[in-house]
Amino acid sequence: MEIAEELARNQKEISVTEFFEKNRHLLGFDNKQKALLTCVKEAVDNSLDACEEMGYIQQKNGMQVTLPEITVEVKQLSENYQLLNEKQNVAQMMLSKHEVSILYKGRSDSKQIRGGKATIKFDDAIFDISESNDKINVVMNGEQLKLKKNSPIFLISVMDNGPGIMPDKIPNIFGKMLYGSKFQAMKQNRGQQGIGIHSAVLYSQLTTGKPAKVVSKIESQKKAKMMKVQINIMKNEPEVVEEGEEDYPYKSGTKVELEIEGLYVTGSKGLDEYIKRTSIVNPHANIIYINPNGEKVVYKRISNQLPKEPIAIKPHPHGLEIGIFMRILKNSSERTIVSALENELSRVSRNIAEQTLKSLGIDPKTKPQDIDRVQANSILKALQSLELMRPQTDCLSPIGKDGLESSLKREYSPEFVSALVRKPEVYRGIPFQIETAVAYGGKIQTEKAILMRFANKIPLLFDSSSCALTQSFLSIDYTRYGLKVENKVPLGPMIFIIHIASVWVPYTNESKNAVASYPVITKEIKLAIQELLRNLSIFLNRKHRNILFQERIGLFDKYGIELAYSLSKLIDMDESKIKKKIEELLKKKKETVIKNVEESLNQSDVISSKIEADNAVNGENETDGE
Ligand SMILES: Nc1ncnc2c1ncn2[C@@H]1O[C@H](COP(=O)(O)OP(=O)(O)OP(=O)(O)O)[C@@H](O)[C@H]1O
Ligand SMILES: [Mg+2]
Repeated sequence: MEIAEELARNQKEISVTEFFEKNRHLLGFDNKQKALLTCVKEAVDNSLDACEEMGYIQQKNGMQVTLPEITVEVKQLSENYQLLNEKQNVAQMMLSKHEVSILYKGRSDSKQIRGGKATIKFDDAIFDISESNDKINVVMNGEQLKLKKNSPIFLISVMDNGPGIMPDKIPNIFGKMLYGSKFQAMKQNRGQQGIGIHSAVLYSQLTTGKPAKVVSKIESQKKAKMMKVQINIMKNEPEVVEEGEEDYPYKSGTKVELEIEGLYVTGSKGLDEYIKRTSIVNPHANIIYINPNGEKVVYKRISNQLPKEPIAIKPHPHGLEIGIFMRILKNSSERTIVSALENELSRVSRNIAEQTLKSLGIDPKTKPQDIDRVQANSILKALQSLELMRPQTDCLSPIGKDGLESSLKREYSPEFVSALVRKPEVYRGIPFQIETAVAYGGKIQTEKAILMRFANKIPLLFDSSSCALTQSFLSIDYTRYGLKVENKVPLGPMIFIIHIASVWVPYTNESKNAVASYPVITKEIKLAIQELLRNLSIFLNRKHRNILFQERIGLFDKYGIELAYSLSKLIDMDESKIKKKIEELLKKKKETVIKNVEESLNQSDVISSKIEADNAVNGENETDGE
């Protein structure tokens, strides 16, 4: 037999779902803490996207706009054990107060616990579970099993008041990997890959064996459609295991419930922080959050306006790769190549299209489908060598200066806050925009500055060191702005926000936690932060000035009182009269002191502006170039 023939026996198609099952770290499920957060995040991103899309349509049709209202509830459902016999792990058991579930050979079954006992039967195994004096006993086919405790099981529920999902689309949306509405859309969305919610469903299925429960109502229906959906991993196809109808508290919307193995932690990488940060960058959304401890936090919207609507744009030649360009030509409904170039691409005028084709000797009347790879390549190269206008930037929807500042004020009541929005820029032909903000003091009581990273209004909590946002933040010399620094991080009770808004955020991988480092992106971030630092250093100078001022004035008052007392004893005169005289005398002196302090502080303002000038000369403001 041919060796190739023998090897061919093992060659077969790999289902995308099977691939991601094995490579779950790529999707952000590499540890239990991150997994819990990723599942919530995928559902919340989708809810916010859907609500906004509905709002934009309502806006266009002159209807009243519904603003997003998202309820996130995360509950610990049960303890979670691996069941082991002498040799190996045989099953998984999820145990709550009243119910026990067993996941065995890919199948799962649940039973109520009655009198501390329950029995679960599969074709080839019977599990007898009993509880007494907090001791759990599991016997499988007569054999006593050992129990190993895993991370607990959580029920995640995310509900929105968005448009809802057409019932016939629910199975694919939740049960078919790489199915979505945003992959081809050249406009800013939170979702972009068509992987997000399916990966959460897949993770839930793998860790608890439970399907996703989806309840979705469209406006014309009286009741919401309920479906329990799971993924057929080998086929990457959805399977609906239960269907029904339910009431829904809004005119329309979607609620997703997932049971997953996870770990709830607090702190900077925890769920509570993720929700808080989500509310900071979505000032138009009401977010109701109930955490696993049963604590309810309501983040009330502070803006009654939808963010600016992002408008879909066409691909710009500078960001196109040959394969995609060929596909555009193949699918074009234009009759000639010249009109395909003009109408399918951004910033290619009729004139540019004609000139380019002429210079390459290509007949402008050729059908776009008849352009071969060599011709396509030469057209693309020619277009890319031209100084075309930048792509339109109305595909972007930044949070805005007011939104960022108001959110930070609501959350931290800072002494100082400043936000700024840079002009849109372009990486690889793809528009993006950087927004930054800084807040100082108030409820912020950290010793070191905290950096909050966001991409398309999604908080990024993991993979910080490999993210361009962190790297740019750390590349700034904060000492030039009068700040002390430890390990490159400025010291003080400060929060910095960096937000990148883009049609296609260049994430380093599918888990969407870190942004790739393009020079033009890092340059924009640095310039934005530097501008904020100038405002911050003026504030800090003033703050410093006030402290100094109060200290010096305080000295006069203190010594005045003491002097009046001593003199009254010495010369036997009424203390209050002496005090009055001293006060009159000191008032004149104070004016001189105030003048002196003012002068010395003005001097420090001069010094700080000199530093800025030096920075500019020394190239800190220089651009890196792309
Ligand atoms: N709550 C929802 N309301 C309405 N439509 C939804 C909702 N959730 C998901 N969808 C639809 O399901 C599609 C698939 O969602 P999914 O999260 O898997 O991918 P995505 O959001 O397009 O991209 P990404 O992988 O980056 O998250 C979405 O594109 C959207 O059309
Ligand atoms: Mg999504």
